[in-house]
Amino acid sequence: MAFSRTFHITTSMIAILCQTIHAASPEPCGSEQSINGMMLKGHVFQTIKASHSALLALDCLTACNNDIRCQSFNYVISLSICELNNRTKEAKPDNFVPNPERYYFKRYKGRVALGSIPELPADSCWEIKVTEGEKAVSGEYWFNSIIPSKSILAYCDMDTLDIDECSASKNVCDVNAVCTNTEGSYSCSCKPGFTGNGKHCSAPVVTVTSSCEDLTLEQTNITGFIFSTLRDYYKYKNNMECKWGVSSNTKLELTFYTFKTEEDKDILEIYDGSSSNSPLIGSYSGTSLPPPITSSSHELYIVFSTDYSDREPGFQASYRAITEGSVRLRRSEIPLTGTVEIFHDD
Ligand SMILES: *[C@@H]1O[C@H](CO)[C@@H](O)[C@H](O)[C@H]1NC(C)=O
Ligand SMILES: *[C@@H]1O[C@H](CO)[C@@H](O)[C@H](O)[C@H]1NC(C)=O
Repeated sequence: MAFSRTFHITTSMIAILCQTIHAASPEPCGSEQSINGMMLKGHVFQTIKASHSALLALDCLTACNNDIRCQSFNYVISLSICELNNRTKEAKPDNFVPNPERYYFKRYKGRVALGSIPELPADSCWEIKVTEGEKAVSGEYWFNSIIPSKSILAYCDMDTLDIDECSASKNVCDVNAVCTNTEGSYSCSCKPGFTGNGKHCSAPVVTVTSSCEDLTLEQTNITGFIFSTLRDYYKYKNNMECKWGVSSNTKLELTFYTFKTEEDKDILEIYDGSSSNSPLIGSYSGTSLPPPITSSSHELYIVFSTDYSDREPGFQASYRAITEGSVRLRRSEIPLTGTVEIFHDD
């Protein structure tokens, strides 16, 4: 008994819906528009409750036609409600599932093309192509997949189905980065003179602390000098134990331009990190100039210790932050000759 009653309501509602649709459009009310026992799951943006079950068809159609986001709707017989979807079954085939209580209808009058307005952003180029078919041509569309929960305009290549994120109406990389589109993705790298992961780039900054007063001079944001002797003194002191901590937001370089200590007694040690527990880059004494040192971390720890006797002029070194495109001038003699090296910070 209950079954036949349900069936009766169902048939009459479909009849009303078909009449409404038929009157509004020359297209017939074929099976392409209404699919029995199926629903689109997970894309309901509004639920309509009819004042009377007989009015549901009309209320539902009107509600869908009046909302630019409406792409299709599920008609729920037993509850006298209808669910407006912001996708079609073509766009989300995996979410098109059997449901004995429901009918699925695709909107075909005044349906707005997916991705063509900010209110209806697409997830992918593929989704637009399968929904719009022939009408989907390469060009700019609105997407919600580039920046989470934001509707962004970007170019879509309908042949490769790739979104060019670098063309997006909102920067996907830092303003001080270069954006490179790749198939299915993109990459960002900081412009020369900036440091970071490309999503965030900042100007390099170096800070230096010294355990011995006055042994760091002429410090700027990204460069400075470290000396083993006090200003105006020709030789370092005996029984010294001086430590420098150099830290930055990028890799560091230390270049020596003078070096002379008591061999094996007055020793300079350089660590790749923040303390003497970090990996030792080198231990230097005597008269040969240490090679230019590049950190693999963002810190250098420098220790100079001298014994009780024999003083020498010690060392003079300059440090600097290395960013992509940094240029190093290596001085070997006067007049200035040497090599120019370009660093690329990975
Ligand atoms: C579409 O509907 C789903 C499910 O309700 C919702 O999460 C999503 O934000 C909606 N998308 C748009 C663009 O309105
Ligand atoms: C040095 O850094 C500060 C803050 O980090 C910045 O405001 C300033 O502009 C920088 N100076 C130079 C010369 O880059």
